[in-house]
Amino acid sequence: MQISERMKNVSGSAIRELFKVLGDPEIISFGGGNPAKECFPKQWAADTAQSLIAEKGDVLLQYGPTEGYLPLRKAYIDKVLAPLGIEATLDNVITTTGSMQGLDLIAKTVINPGDYVLVEEPTFLGTIQIFNIAQANIITVPMHEDGVHADELEEMVKKYRPVLFYTIPTFQNPTSLVMPVEVRRVAARLAAEYDMLVVEDDPYASLRFTGEALPLIKTFDTSDNTILLTSFSKTISPGLRVACCCGNPELVRKMVVAKQGSDTHSPNLNQALVERFLIEDRMPAHLDYINGVYSSSCNAMMKAIREYFPDWVKVNDPEGGLFIWCTLPAGWDADAVFHRSVSEKLVAFVPGAPFYVQKELGANSFRLNFSAEPEARITEGIRRLGDLLREMDAEMKAI
Ligand SMILES: Cc1ncc(COP(=O)(O)O)c(C=O)c1O
Repeated sequence: MQISERMKNVSGSAIRELFKVLGDPEIISFGGGNPAKECFPKQWAADTAQSLIAEKGDVLLQYGPTEGYLPLRKAYIDKVLAPLGIEATLDNVITTTGSMQGLDLIAKTVINPGDYVLVEEPTFLGTIQIFNIAQANIITVPMHEDGVHADELEEMVKKYRPVLFYTIPTFQNPTSLVMPVEVRRVAARLAAEYDMLVVEDDPYASLRFTGEALPLIKTFDTSDNTILLTSFSKTISPGLRVACCCGNPELVRKMVVAKQGSDTHSPNLNQALVERFLIEDRMPAHLDYINGVYSSSCNAMMKAIREYFPDWVKVNDPEGGLFIWCTLPAGWDADAVFHRSVSEKLVAFVPGAPFYVQKELGANSFRLNFSAEPEARITEGIRRLGDLLREMDAEMKAI
């Protein structure tokens, strides 16, 4: 049987071991990016789904338009984009089956095999996979302690003329860093100067615990070369698989064509649920609630880290998002820590390498998620992980 060239060098194996253990209740998991289950608006969703089917069942249970359920596209413009200072019309907006599909449609629509695409390093591993399947030439700009540096970004754009720059400006996955406003302006300027698409992936910005929200790159976009991906996975529910995307009408039209051949349209009922959530103005109070839960979990993890991790582990203290990014001293192998952590301590996390294009650069880093476990298990898991790091350090010194 033939495997396509496109898929040959793409492996899903990097964290397969992680997925094997995620369902095991004995394992304390800091692995995925799962929202806390108490943050799902379950009763509301049950009641609303019932009334939506009663009132609009004939439409919602039927095939729907590829570009998305019209009331949701309108609600996205009025309730999400307008408050962010982004003006849009229906021509700018498509609904996708998660932002993951938005990224896939962008890759299908924009990238020719061999084209340069620029990403932050490290970055979201799902995007690396999509760009690999698109046979792109992935080039990187490093994330420093304060994120991407504008001069390095400009240098890469000038040198390689990438077709797109993919960025997660706020609470980046995996580092949780926030791109400063000046760099956002530079990204928008480079998009105009070099006719480059900026893909602004924004699933986490609403999960802010402290500090001021920053303007999106899209608000500085004078050339209509920024496409914004807004996912409702982390704010409402990832299982609904609903996201919206706002970009240049010509690009969006082509993405609609690509989506036709992919899944025809995203599920109507799920889109209608998200639309009701927005139209009933539930988001502000819901975000207050979930951000309370997540900031408390994040504080519990940071407190345990300060107490139990050796002081040579470098750790960020995020202002929001779902992750804490850790760096071990040079020479450490986070993959080896991961394997021993799962088998000896029953604690899972994601080692850093899969988030890197140049995997070796991520060998000594790892990502912890704080949203999926109760606080007592967070503290216990961090204590065990701290023990393991000390044990491994002592073993290395004994050699
Ligand atoms: C940066 C980033 N982009 C996109 C996604 C995909 O989200 P969705 O559930 O909307 O497909 C994720 C999921 O973790 C993510 O972290």
